[in-house]
Amino acid sequence: MRKRLSLSFAHLSCIKPNVNTPKLFSNAYPAGRHLLLLFLSIYISLPSYLSCTLSISSSHSPRMALFLCLFFFLISSSSACDRCVHQTKVAYFSKASALSSGACGYGSLAVGFTGGYLAAAVPSLYNNGAGCGACFQMRCKNTTLCAEQGTKVIVTDLNQNNHTDFVLSSRAFRAMANKGMEQDILKLGLVNVEYKRIPCEIPCEYKNQNLAVRVEETSKKPNYLAVKFLYQGGQTEIVAVDVAQVGSSDWSFMSRNYGAVWDTDRVPAGALQFRMVVTSGYDGKWIWAQNVLPVDWKVGVVYDSGVQINDIAKEGCSPCDDGSWNSR
Ligand SMILES: *[C@@H]1O[C@H](CO)[C@@H](O)[C@H](O)[C@H]1NC(C)=O
Ligand SMILES: *[C@@H]1O[C@H](CO)[C@@H](O)[C@H](O)[C@H]1NC(C)=O
Repeated sequence: MRKRLSLSFAHLSCIKPNVNTPKLFSNAYPAGRHLLLLFLSIYISLPSYLSCTLSISSSHSPRMALFLCLFFFLISSSSACDRCVHQTKVAYFSKASALSSGACGYGSLAVGFTGGYLAAAVPSLYNNGAGCGACFQMRCKNTTLCAEQGTKVIVTDLNQNNHTDFVLSSRAFRAMANKGMEQDILKLGLVNVEYKRIPCEIPCEYKNQNLAVRVEETSKKPNYLAVKFLYQGGQTEIVAVDVAQVGSSDWSFMSRNYGAVWDTDRVPAGALQFRMVVTSGYDGKWIWAQNVLPVDWKVGVVYDSGVQINDIAKEGCSPCDDGSWNSR
């Protein structure tokens, strides 16, 4: 079953392709540069903000409309639009465990749901955790050594070392090699690659997977709930999450705790529904999962949200997007 609440709002021009999504509810909000960008984006998106407010205040309370629209225009400078091919070097982790315990908090689940094709991304791509679960295709540039199609990886960790945009799991690193060249590429340890962001469908069965919600071990009834989102498809970022009792419109917002983990200390009673603001390129929408956690939700359990997220940034969203790899 799929259900969506979709809002239309004006597409904004590519003003700041690499600006991090502001952390709306964090108390560690870096002032200065972000504030400047904020005012810039307010200025640019004011007309769409006003029309957004008008168009949804008919179906929500005015206060809620203001709140929702504020979201959209705060996130309108986020970076998911990028479809360009980038150049970098990549290295690999010799230990698989290094990545599966990555900063996104997927833990050992990461290996399961991606087939072990994992990557740690630099801060600009990790994007304070909004980049968790993003998928990239990459191939190394030595045609003797490396296969044409390269490999697909999913971001599960933060790469603090800024010499490479990514550090891969050894499985993903090997997968870039031509048949029989796997040992050669491992021996090199560091290769030149080109990469681009792609919609997530790794492996194939992930493609039609519903978004799942895992209740984290730190959750404690009745006051604290931490959840992790799994199988976030498409080319998307979850930038806001609210939770409410099923059937209620008394929503509590959740904050990104770290990586793909969101939490709140105002937990509604009863069975729980979620709604998320998901961005893809310059589009944002609410996705509403109407019945996710049962009354007796338990830690460590993965619950099906009943919705899929599979939006893809619009074609032509980046001027560089020609839908193909350039020849090496
Ligand atoms: C490509 O890789 C092969 C095999 O490792 C190596 O012999 C060759 O020198 C490399 N070519 C370049 C241009 O680096
Ligand atoms: C990498 O990080 C170090 C320390 O954080 C910094 O001094 C250096 O300028 C960075 N290099 C690049 C290329 O960003």
